[in-house]
Amino acid sequence: MDQALNIAQLPILVKDLSDTVDCDSVRKNVSELELIENIKNSITEEKDMCKMPEFAQLGEALKNESAQYLRNFWMDDPTHSFEDLQITESWANQSVKGEEHHLHQHPFSVVSGVMFLSDTQDNLNLTFENEITPVPYWRTGTRRAYYSIKDLIGDENNLKNHVVIFLSTTGHMVQPVQGDTPRVTISWNTFWKGKVGNINANGWSNHRFIDADVVDNKGNYPGPRTGYAVFK
Ligand SMILES: [Fe+2]
Repeated sequence: MDQALNIAQLPILVKDLSDTVDCDSVRKNVSELELIENIKNSITEEKDMCKMPEFAQLGEALKNESAQYLRNFWMDDPTHSFEDLQITESWANQSVKGEEHHLHQHPFSVVSGVMFLSDTQDNLNLTFENEITPVPYWRTGTRRAYYSIKDLIGDENNLKNHVVIFLSTTGHMVQPVQGDTPRVTISWNTFWKGKVGNINANGWSNHRFIDADVVDNKGNYPGPRTGYAVFK
């Protein structure tokens, strides 16, 4: 067998929300929000829009999709889990022809996402950063590669009414808008809610087979060495 294996993994989810959310009313309600200037585009003054009653259905869907993304792609330790996520910030962005969004990450957030509201190919300009592994004794230091959504999925579907969900530590940017249609999107951040970590840590006796560096007050190994945190 001759085969090239690739162990690099940075899953990014693209999902159509047309059947989950009333996207037309989201679009209408977003158009009524006040915009202020951002670094290279405009952004809503409202940074918690999913708490507004008119965006309640959207907020619930974005939270559920974010949690499901984490569970599907990143929860690979069977002793660790999380009870829930919550949306901590949510806002809309508007970029007109020539405007762009600089390279950034979303600090103090676990999973972030973008929802595309406009019917434009410029949705596909969302671009992600990934590190290139250096070749020993050839290339040193950190080099980065950039992949637009268009590079990744082509341009047959412009992703109107879709979300793109990623880890908040993933660098991303939007190349300058080319078309005459303003590119309107919703962005959101999330954080843990409830128990996170070894959420079954009270059932220590079930985990004695796992190596541990602490003992309980009877001298027994209590199981996994990490506990959990609880977020309100
Ligand atoms: Fe962003």
